[in-house]
Amino acid sequence: MPDQTPSSSYTMGYSEEFRQLLDRRSAETHARHLFPHLKPGLRVLDFGCGPGTITVGLARAVEPGEVHGIDVEESQIGLARAAAQAGGHHNATFHVGSVTDLPFEDGSFDVAHCHAVLMHVPDTQTTLAEVKRVLKPGGIVASREIFVSSSFLEPSIDDTDAAWATFSNLLAANGGHPEMGKELKHILLEAGFSDIRAGGSFDFFSAPEDVAFLHAFIVDWFLSPTVIGAATKYGLATQEQFERWRQGLDEWKGLPGACGAFAFGEAIARKPQS
Ligand SMILES: C[S@@+](CC[C@H](N)C(=O)[O-])C[C@H]1O[C@@H](n2cnc3c(N)ncnc32)[C@H](O)[C@@H]1O
Repeated sequence: MPDQTPSSSYTMGYSEEFRQLLDRRSAETHARHLFPHLKPGLRVLDFGCGPGTITVGLARAVEPGEVHGIDVEESQIGLARAAAQAGGHHNATFHVGSVTDLPFEDGSFDVAHCHAVLMHVPDTQTTLAEVKRVLKPGGIVASREIFVSSSFLEPSIDDTDAAWATFSNLLAANGGHPEMGKELKHILLEAGFSDIRAGGSFDFFSAPEDVAFLHAFIVDWFLSPTVIGAATKYGLATQEQFERWRQGLDEWKGLPGACGAFAFGEAIARKPQS
């Protein structure tokens, strides 16, 4: 019987390859749904901020308001502090801590933002209860999360559906939520938020340099010994399947029509006034 016990470990890890993917993100592109609600002077929380590539853009948008980034991983907070210092964002402060136990006062933020975080944290409702606690009445929560089932590579390579299913099952085996992007509206409702606006968008890779980046990322991350080791340990895929995917990906990269995308759902909601 395969070992599929959820381990609550963070699926993506903190490798250089994954950091390069995060480096392509910015507040302007990846928090576009939140931008119309930002203005100078607001106090913003970016929970699960990672290396801070999105956080620094939020800091720019609300200056002289404060932005606080929090992440459970110390190395990411080190990167985020360096990014803020390099950009001169003195209104950004970073903390090591968990989203399930936020070190902030009740009702102390105007906005709480996260990107690609609820999909990884096992206890969604505990997290959202904490976020709601630290928001002011009328404050905004914003989230953008993947849904694996609508992500794709085109033209499809041999056995691609099984490769996406393996990624999805690995997220779930680690306590995550591979379809979180589609679930945001009802999850926010359940957590007691109101005025919910949900939508979706893709992170799309089509220009030759973007296809080359996506190929390198999948090979270096998904086909890494760490991911193959975890997936085979859980009984989600075999070494032979990973080898086939490696060959298929190399062929895919050379196709003139090659493109691919990660599908994301995004939502904005408010903490009720009372
Ligand atoms: C996919 S990364 C996203 C980083 C950033 N928001 C972005 O999109 O560029 C997810 C981040 O959530 C953090 N994380 C996971 N579980 C957490 C928890 N319980 N508390 C705080 N951070 C957590 C991870 O350490 C990681 O940096």
